Amino acid sequence: MQHNIMLRSKIAFAVRECLNAQGYLEIETPFMTRSTPEGARDYLVPCRVQPGTFYALPQSPQIFKQILMVSGFDKYFQIVRCFRDEDFRADRQAEFTQIDLEMSFPQQERVFETIEPLMQRVCEVAGFQVGAPFRRLTYAEAMRSYGSDKPDCRIPPMHPVEDLLPELAHNNLPLVAIHIPATGAPSRKERDELKAFGQERGLRVYDDAKRLERDHAEAMTKVRARCGAGENDLLVLATWAGEPKGVRPEETVYLACGQLRLHCAQKFNDRHKLLDPKNLQFLWVVDFPMFEWDEEENRWNAAHHPFTSVHDEDLEKLTTDPARCRAKSYDLVLNGMEMGSGSIRIHRRDVQTQVFAALGFTEEEARRRFGFLLEALEYGAPPHGGIALGLDRLVMILAGETSIRDVIPFPKTARGTDMMCDAPSTVPERQLRELGISIRGQEK
Ligand code: AMO
Repeated sequence: MQHNIMLRSKIAFAVRECLNAQGYLEIETPFMTRSTPEGARDYLVPCRVQPGTFYALPQSPQIFKQILMVSGFDKYFQIVRCFRDEDFRADRQAEFTQIDLEMSFPQQERVFETIEPLMQRVCEVAGFQVGAPFRRLTYAEAMRSYGSDKPDCRIPPMHPVEDLLPELAHNNLPLVAIHIPATGAPSRKERDELKAFGQERGLRVYDDAKRLERDHAEAMTKVRARCGAGENDLLVLATWAGEPKGVRPEETVYLACGQLRLHCAQKFNDRHKLLDPKNLQFLWVVDFPMFEWDEEENRWNAAHHPFTSVHDEDLEKLTTDPARCRAKSYDLVLNGMEMGSGSIRIHRRDVQTQVFAALGFTEEEARRRFGFLLEALEYGAPPHGGIALGLDRLVMILAGETSIRDVIPFPKTARGTDMMCDAPSTVPERQLRELGISIRGQEK
């Protein structure tokens, strides 16, 4: 743990050195603020002097950094604590740290050119050499080839093969070949388990490669050639079992196949050793969809956040075909984990208003929640964009750990408890009274 905390300190120092040398200013932004929409719940802080009102702790400094660009600071960064009330996981804590940055007048490539040397330097500090430029994949390619928007490129890609075996594809949806090298022939029990895993995710799984080869000899030779699969490799085909599902049905199939692919790779890792934590495979995933459909709320949500620019050629799809509207957003991915996320922002008020409308905000709601940003855009904002990287996740991978708790001093448990000081805790009635708060069920 001490080694990890020391590595974290060295990495944070290298980040400051590197960004400082490129002319970035470190600027602190407030913690007691208004809600910032990053898709999680807010932590609220009651305001004693204005009873009944609350600050929200920032989910990210997103709006502040955009306003800094409008006010003429053209290169900002901050190593900053963010707060999100969401379920804890191995790669998630409620308070975590971002390396957050923003610049004026960038194209996407300029953001990449800033981050790549930064990552190379940070890896060097941790004893790794990585090459640049990093690979770039569009979201659509990542989905098709890896069934994920955060591909683990240590494992070979999947291949659509419905053109070679149309009789096995279902409902005009993709038929996907999953290839994992050097597994040897799986046992019957192993095959049954893979099949059950796929079926639970809605797939029809063709797990018996020998039988496929007997029944479709010619096509299977082509499938093997397309995948580059040898005799000793695992080859599983999968398609969708039921009716098409989702706003982009082919994606639903790719996603389920992607999970099966990862499961296969993890299951046989002791044989092929592909998932070597010392093999660092960075890549950029670009051109994410602008919107995601929210089944529960029956509406579109911003896939990144609502301040992200739309691709110029997709602007008119904002209203006609939101499902196929691409954003100028990008993720930095490392070994199957999202390390960072960013976008080129909307810098025109009229476009921002259009996007709020596509997200179902009324004009009044947009003005109430983001009036200050809309107003700032009116002053003639420079085109701007940026990114935020997860420092905890980065240190975790570079320290060879599998949970961010192992690189955070005083982390919280899965139930959100700080074990050392036993927080959260109840507070004296007097303190609640001062804040004008009563706890439901305990009102006197
Ligand atoms: P995003 O929400 O994708 O983007 O967050 C950026 C990066 O922060 C890390 N991260 C987390 N790490 C640990 N625990 C969490 N709960 C957690 N949530 C996020 C991830 C993620 O990639 N404002 C935008 C950035 C931008 O557009 O510039 C933002 O916050 O590594």
